[in-house]
Amino acid sequence: MKVVRTKAELRAELAPARTTGQVIGLVPTMGALHGGHLALLAAARERSDVVVMSLFVNPAQFGPGEDLDAYPRDEDRDAELAALEGVDLLWIPDADEIYPDGFATSVEVANSFTGVLEGDPSHRGPSHFRGVTTVVAKLFNSVQPDVAYFGRKDAQQALVIERMTRDLDFPVEIVVLPTVREDDGLAEEAARGGETSTDALVETARNELRNSGIEPEYVEARAAEDLSPVAELNGRPVLVAVAARVGRARLIDNVLINPKTEA
Ligand code: PAF
Repeated sequence: MKVVRTKAELRAELAPARTTGQVIGLVPTMGALHGGHLALLAAARERSDVVVMSLFVNPAQFGPGEDLDAYPRDEDRDAELAALEGVDLLWIPDADEIYPDGFATSVEVANSFTGVLEGDPSHRGPSHFRGVTTVVAKLFNSVQPDVAYFGRKDAQQALVIERMTRDLDFPVEIVVLPTVREDDGLAEEAARGGETSTDALVETARNELRNSGIEPEYVEARAAEDLSPVAELNGRPVLVAVAARVGRARLIDNVLINPKTEA
């Protein structure tokens, strides 16, 4: 595995693969790799000729109440794990490389996608997703991957990135990998059992969390394709998204209720 820091080095390393038409797969990360990242890297390894992992703790997606300095950083550990997963090129840019002096541009997906759930001003706020889409657009332009991998655990982020990619014609296929877990919870069971009111599903999910001693920040059901509010399961996929503080960590999760596969 080769480690590069500048865009110039990155481009030089990727040039031969690009000219010979090899498939370049990108897994964007902020480091602190966990099992979810390893699954993305494994999928990228399986489906690409060249696997690039970016590691950049993006200041632009941290809100005023979020501690950028406290974000866990362990470059050596991340590099070791990336190498074990078969990453070919690890790109670790400095903040100046991504946001040079005078940087004045941002990429923003409409508020109906980015101002709800995590983007609601009472949670992380819409500037969070502006930071995400701006940096991901830059990562796409620098790496120019054929395929980029994201996790469904962060379903809103994946949706926002898919929409940006489509709307701005980035020639990148976005692959969103499902969260691997043994139990998808009572909300999904209730939907399988014929419950169609999203209020009832939300209440079931809220109670399930409370029974485990977790007070959720929010539990919301929204249309999975555009995050618009939904009152009833109406044959289209619905996302039940939750955020909660557990100890000092703030966790997010979601269940995708897909009537087509529930049938
Ligand atoms: O999911 C993350 O780790 C980040 O939001 C991403 C996509 C790497 C952008 O900084």
